[in-house]
Amino acid sequence: MNINWYPGHMAKAKRMIEDSLKQVDMAVELIDARIPVSSRNPDIAPLLAKANRPSMILLNKSDLADPVENDRWLARYKKEGIPAILFNAKATGAKSNAEFVAAVKAAFAEKIERNTAKGMAGRAIKIMVLGIPNVGKSTVINNICGSKRAKAEDRPGVTRGKQWISAGGLDILDTPGILWPRLEDKTAAEKLAVTGAIRDEILDSEELAVCLLNILRAPEYIKLLSARYKLPEELPEDTYDLLSLIGRKRGFVISGGEVDTERTAAVLLDEFRGGKIGRITLDRTENYDQH
Ligand code: G4P
Repeated sequence: MNINWYPGHMAKAKRMIEDSLKQVDMAVELIDARIPVSSRNPDIAPLLAKANRPSMILLNKSDLADPVENDRWLARYKKEGIPAILFNAKATGAKSNAEFVAAVKAAFAEKIERNTAKGMAGRAIKIMVLGIPNVGKSTVINNICGSKRAKAEDRPGVTRGKQWISAGGLDILDTPGILWPRLEDKTAAEKLAVTGAIRDEILDSEELAVCLLNILRAPEYIKLLSARYKLPEELPEDTYDLLSLIGRKRGFVISGGEVDTERTAAVLLDEFRGGKIGRITLDRTENYDQH
């Protein structure tokens, strides 16, 4: 998680991904279902095109996202011909693993047919997982691979240090491709910060909480926010005052009757990230044109 993206880092990450892509059949791009646009690195498509590798999208953390929006995003990708599935990497178990494997095979069906024609029907599909920090790459790999993860396997042509794990007819590259988040776009950066994709230590939590409240006081989300913190119909105009009000409602009052806004901010962010305010999608389909 502790990554500051400087141009040098970006170039190195790009090179590493280009290198790994040469060794796989396809890529699985993880994005955060709460922010499908903001959590997507725009440089990924050109990288895949250059490597001539197919890919699919895994909308991870879908358990935290609005189920209606989840379906709308899926429909959007389908319309655009992009293979995509909803996923919850935290829900371990045979069912989610089978869904993952089936989705990869479906996305790769054409190639499988070609392999079959070439008499290579049983060959495992080599994949790599890609995504920005904290989107769930390690969790996905760990779950799919389970206890097999620790086992190393040597293969010709694979850079030393890289490991493959076999699961359900897939060979998964142990090392995920880490990409930089979309920080130059202010709105995207704010959404990445409030969902926890950017390190908290470098951000002011009260500022971030005010930013989150500015988003959540919009008509789409206000009901969930009000229900969670038992807010009155008439809200303070100033969002910092709204943060104070939430703190007061929660009893975070320090000596002299002042509200501990720092603690309120930390709790608010924590509860939002944990899905306690509700299942919320911040990148809503209606706000994005078809690509
Ligand atoms: P990365 O490799 O892409 O950097 O991400 P990683 O797997 O480390 O996951 C980052 C955080 O997101 C972890 O939480 C992980 O548990 C959580 N996570 C991953 N996938 C999902 C999902 O589908 N749903 C939900 N709800 N959470 C998910 P953490 O707070 O860092 O650790 P912990 O609380 O799990 O211990």
